[in-house]
Parts: sequence; structure tokens; C-alpha cells
Amino acid sequence: MEPSFPVNGTGFPASSISETFTNLRKQGKVALIPFVTAGDPDLSTTAEALKVLDSCGSDIVELGLPCSDPFLDGPVIQGACTRALANGTNFESIISMLKEVIPQLSYPIALFTYYKSILEHGISKFMAALNDAGVRGLLVPDALPHETEALKEEAAKNKIEIVLLTTPITPKEEMKSIVESAEGFVYLVSSVGVTGARTSINPDVQLLLQEIKEVTSKPVAVGFGISTAEHVKQIAEWGADGVIVGSAMVKRLGESKSPEEGLKELETFARSLKVALPSKQLPKDPLLVLA
Ligand SMILES: *[C@@H]1O[C@H](CO)[C@@H](O)[C@H](O)[C@H]1NC(C)=O
Repeated sequence: MEPSFPVNGTGFPASSISETFTNLRKQGKVALIPFVTAGDPDLSTTAEALKVLDSCGSDIVELGLPCSDPFLDGPVIQGACTRALANGTNFESIISMLKEVIPQLSYPIALFTYYKSILEHGISKFMAALNDAGVRGLLVPDALPHETEALKEEAAKNKIEIVLLTTPITPKEEMKSIVESAEGFVYLVSSVGVTGARTSINPDVQLLLQEIKEVTSKPVAVGFGISTAEHVKQIAEWGADGVIVGSAMVKRLGESKSPEEGLKELETFARSLKVALPSKQLPKDPLLVLA
């Protein structure tokens, strides 16, 4: 009989996004969250990339659904979407690839998509397809608050957590309600503007992380513009629970001369980030502090 939940290579059900963070927290670890675009440059390469990222110790992978108007994305991820669509990638082919690959992975997958793409399928059909494939999280950066509520309702029926984003220009009251409503983790967008590698991280991230941590115990992961081992290390030192690396991953995988070369570059890069991620300082035993 087919199991009714995704089972990874070790025979255990794949964890949810929040369970993954709970486990990492117990070990004092910071999550490495690579992002790749589904179908870039083709779906069989994406399937391989998801396995490669597992072998590199990725804790969660964010998988972008290619769309024709990725208006929040910079040139690198726009290029990835163009390559994926040119190769004939569509929602149905992505779902069938995931059905095959997710049972072989030890980490949960969160899909990144635009609200319009969900509406094309209808919210309930979309969520059911994700659940069927074993996807555990969803990010819809352009959904308005009332749209997010509708998504959350359907997602809950399908064991999918809705991750919400806050940015450096989100007013504090709004940030609080986003944090309150977020499932899985809170996504702190490090800088204003489209996605894409930056040469340095916005120094305000440290303060923004503190402000979020003051109002929630939910995990917080930082993304947008993070492209080097130094960035990853810095963000972990500022107290983030996870780091999301998008364009810098996509560049290596999708802009290489061949898919084989892209997979190799992706692997080298992901490994370099994983080793740069220090284990977080665990809180000291209070009795020892008193003594
Ligand atoms: C998609 O990519 C694969 C592998 O690179 C190739 O064999 C196939 O012809 C491409 N399909 C389309 C429709 O471009």
C-alpha cells in the first residue's frame, strides 16, 4: 500500500517546516535554505538539484514556480523562469516530478509562487495538488492580507504552512500582524527591491531581527541578496534561524554551460555555505550562569 504521507529515504515521514526548525533549534543549528527555480534549465536537472542539495545538508529548499511575469524577481531569477518556460515546464509536470523526488529527500520543500498563478488553478485544487506531491510550505509574496487568509484556510486542510514575508519598510504594527499570522517561519526580506545578489548585506538586518524576535518565538529566516559564505555567517551571527540563498544558487545551476556543470557548481557552492554556517551559541545553563 502507498503511504499517505511523504516518506524520505530513511523511512520517516518528511518533517513539516516548523518541525524542521524545532529540530534545528534543539541542536543549536541555523537552517540553510537554498532556492532554485523548477524547470531551470529543465525538470530532470531540477530533480537532480533537489537531491544534490540534500547531500549538501540543506535543511529546507524553496522551489520557485516559473511564471511569465515574476515582477518581484531580479534578472537572474527572471532568466531562470524564461529558461524553465522555454523548456515546456508547467504546473502539472512540476507536480509529477515532485511526486517522484520528494520521497527521496530528507528535508521539506516550500514552493514560492505568485498569487495569480494559484488563481489559475483555483486555491483548493492548487493546495490539494501540493499536498498530494508532499510539499509542506508555501510562499506567496504578492498576496494581500485578505488573500493570505483565504490561502491559509485551504493550506491548513492540506498540511501546508504559509510562510509570510516582512521587509525593512514594513510598518511595525503591520510587521507584528504578519509575524502573528506566519506559519513555518517568518521570512525577513533583507533589503528593499527585487531579488538578486548584493555585494553587502543591509546592516539594518541585525536590528530588524531583534525587533521581530521581541514579538515572536517563531523562527526567522533572512533572504534576498545573500550570495556569499561571509553573508551567511554574518546573518547567523545576528541571530537568524535560517538563511535563504536564491539568485546566487540559480546563477550557478542555470547559467552554466551544461546542466552537469551547473549541478557541480551548485554542489560546491552549497557546501561552502553549509560549512560557513556556525552552530548557534546555545543558551547557557542558567544554574551555571548563577554559579
Ligand atoms: C528541455 O530540455 C531537455 C534537456 O535539456 C531537452 O532534451 C528538451 O528537448 C527540452 N524541451 C523543450 C521543449 O525545449
